[in-house]
Amino acid sequence: MNLSIIILAAGQGTRMCSARPKVLHPLAGRPLLAHVIDTARELQPADIHVVIGHGADQVQRDFADTDIQWVLQAEQLGTGHAVAQAMPAIPDGNCVLVMYGDVPLVSRATLEPLCSLAEQGMAALLTAELDDPGGYGRILHHADGSICGIVEQKDASASERALKEINTGFVAAPAARLRRWVAALDNNNAQGEFYLTDVIARAVTEGTGVRGVMADDITEVLGINDRKQLAVQERCYQQRQAERCLQAGVTLADPARFDLRGTLTAGEDVLIDVNAVLEGNIVLGNRVSIGPNVVMRNATVGDDVTILANCVIEDAEIGSHSRIGPFARLRPETRLSTNTHIGNFVEIKKSDVGAGSKVNHLSYIGDTTIGMDVNIGAGTITCNYDGANKHRTIIGDRVFIGSDTQLVAPVEVKEGATIGAGSTITRDVEANELALSRAPQKTRTGWKRPVKKTKG
Ligand code: UD1
Ligand code: CA
Repeated sequence: MNLSIIILAAGQGTRMCSARPKVLHPLAGRPLLAHVIDTARELQPADIHVVIGHGADQVQRDFADTDIQWVLQAEQLGTGHAVAQAMPAIPDGNCVLVMYGDVPLVSRATLEPLCSLAEQGMAALLTAELDDPGGYGRILHHADGSICGIVEQKDASASERALKEINTGFVAAPAARLRRWVAALDNNNAQGEFYLTDVIARAVTEGTGVRGVMADDITEVLGINDRKQLAVQERCYQQRQAERCLQAGVTLADPARFDLRGTLTAGEDVLIDVNAVLEGNIVLGNRVSIGPNVVMRNATVGDDVTILANCVIEDAEIGSHSRIGPFARLRPETRLSTNTHIGNFVEIKKSDVGAGSKVNHLSYIGDTTIGMDVNIGAGTITCNYDGANKHRTIIGDRVFIGSDTQLVAPVEVKEGATIGAGSTITRDVEANELALSRAPQKTRTGWKRPVKKTKG
């Protein structure tokens, strides 16, 4: 049976105190709504309808490349009203599952039972037992234990408020029936809203079977209404990712100080020290060691690479047996071959560094091709920008660049050449030559340091 998923995302999210629509706030680097859509997709629905209202344009723009069916709910008249807006596009023969744009951690495994109950013609709702059920709708039962309805906190009597089984909001039902039920909703309640929750009592009255499914993991069904809840859910998500990494054989010095905002593929015996922030797509080979406070975004790292503390690495490839840092910055389009050493306070951008080459201290290498077994001395700068255009520097195999050299691009230092320390190189250097541009040293014998005048 075809499944249609409706995601409610029209609310304002007042308590976020933000100009940004709530469902666009990031969790692990991606909008809340993106997580929900991912999980929705895992259920292989025929279609996904997202109900938007507050900040609708912005939400739609951020998901422009997806095959979502957008439904505008101009006025937020309640969850039942929101679902009703999506129903016209859903055929009678489908099943419907309602999800929430601000409940990002719910899993496919938790939602699947609801969908199969709906396929069997029933109305199914996901419930949870909370020690502190304040604010949630409570599940009402007949004497025989079957569900008879849901009462919202604001409409509940004192004895109903004492009930600990709450409505998570997730519900699934056959489309034809749900359409009928939401069309018949009224707003005669404490909030003057069309409550989706009222469809349950209606289902019961009609004789449709209603089943509650209790969520195993409460953290999955917690919604995000304010920044504190966002922070809690972020930690929760990161903890799960850390556990997955540990299970896969990655050593994390402290699972509580690990942030993965993307995907990590790691080989054997990888070690990640505290406060790593990994973003985008990260691929680590075997025996890679990541030091403390390393930030990486979209990087591919070969076997036996050591990245020391405080490196920032973005859109870079690092060949096996290399050693990076501490305090190195690899910017986009940096490709390091095997066995390279990149040391402290070195910045590399849009450059290739050949096997066995070393840039160990205080250098800027931009728009450069470095061959094999090259040594770049401390303080070397490639002057790649003339104020208008970028130019390339080419450094051949086995070149030795003395410390404090400026290479004014476009320029080529051919293989085996040596550059004397302190040089400004503006013309190509031929293979195996020594080039240096250095003012001759002068000595003034008998020169005296000035002395401070005494006040007379
Ligand atoms: C709802 C449930 C409550 C449940 C709780 C779980 C109802 C009436 N109550 O209450 O039983 O315990 O969720 O968190 O359904 N939304 C729209 N359009 C609207 C109204 C809401 O898109 O017109 C969206 C909101 O953006 C939000 C979600 O639906 O993401 C839930 O709405 P909210 O008003 O927060 O419902 P609760 O009062 O929390
Ligand atoms: Ca809510």
